[in-house]
Amino acid sequence: MKNLFSLNELTVEKIEYLLDLSEKLTDLSEFENIKKITNDKLVCNLFFEPSTRTHYSFEVAQNRLNMKIISFDSVNSSMQKKETFYDTIKTFDSFSLDLLIIRCSENEFWKQFDCEIQTPIINAGDGTSEHPTQSLLDLLTIKKEFSGFSGLTVGIIGDIVNSRVAHTNIETMQRLGIKVLLSGPLEYIPVLNLNDFPNAEYIPFPEILSKCDVVMMLRIQHERHLHKCCLEKSEYNKNYGLNSKNFSLLKRNAIIMHPGPVNRGIEITDELVECEKSRIFEQMKNGVFVRMAVICYLLSKI
Ligand code: CP
Repeated sequence: MKNLFSLNELTVEKIEYLLDLSEKLTDLSEFENIKKITNDKLVCNLFFEPSTRTHYSFEVAQNRLNMKIISFDSVNSSMQKKETFYDTIKTFDSFSLDLLIIRCSENEFWKQFDCEIQTPIINAGDGTSEHPTQSLLDLLTIKKEFSGFSGLTVGIIGDIVNSRVAHTNIETMQRLGIKVLLSGPLEYIPVLNLNDFPNAEYIPFPEILSKCDVVMMLRIQHERHLHKCCLEKSEYNKNYGLNSKNFSLLKRNAIIMHPGPVNRGIEITDELVECEKSRIFEQMKNGVFVRMAVICYLLSKI
C-alpha cells in the first residue's frame, strides 16, 4: 500500500493490524526495531488548514522514528504569489522525498492528481470528508478501554455534517461491529435525510446519553458554517452539550471522547473536559502511536 487517503481502502484485518502495531509502540523497546524502517527518511508536513493535534503529533511521531522533517509554512510560501495547491504538491513531489503528510480543505484532494504523485501521501484530514488517523486513534482509545469492540455502542453527537472525524468513524466503526448512534441539532445531521448512513440511528438528546459506552462530542465547526450557529453558547450546551446536569445519565463505565479542539462550555462544560470519564487527552496521546504505526506501515511497503 502506497498511500493512506481513507480507511475504506483498508480491510478490517489491516485496520486491526494497525491498531495492534500502535499498541505495541506504546512500549519504548519496540521503537528500536521499527526505526530501521524510518531512520533518516525525509518527510514533509503540508498543512493548508490550521492544526495542533494532528500536525504536531505527526511531528512527534516522526521525531521518535528518527525521520528528517520539513515543515511547510504556507504563509511564507509561493502560495502568497498565487501558486496553486496542485503546483505546490507537485513541487514537493519533485524533491524525491519519502513521505508527504497533507491536510487540506478540499474533499478528496488527491483525486485531482490522478497517478502523477510519486511520493507516498498520508491524508491528515480533507475538508469534511475523511480523517483516517483520527479515526484510528479514536479506535485505539476505545480498544484500550474495553479490550475490543464487540457489543459496544458509540454515540456521536453534534456537528456531524461538517465533521470528517464523524464521517470516517461512522463507516469504520460499523465495519468493526460497533453500533453507532447519532444525535444533535437536526440541521447538523442532514446525512440522515440522504440515507448516507442507513445503519446509524438518530436518538434525540439527551436520551442518547444512557445508551452509549462511548459518548463522542463533536466541535461545532463555526468556520464551515455559512450562517452563525442557530443557538447561543449556553443554549447549545443546555440542549445538545454535556454538562453536570445530564452527566448523571451516562452509563457507569461509559467514557467521554472528543477529537478536539474543544469549545469549552459549548459541546462540553469546562469541569467535564478532564473528569474521570474523559479520555480526551488520552486520545491525543494515542495519536502519536497511531501515526508512528501508519508511517511505518506505509514506508515498509507491506
Ligand atoms: N482532531 C484534530 O484533527 O485536531 P487538529 O485540527 O488540532 O489537528
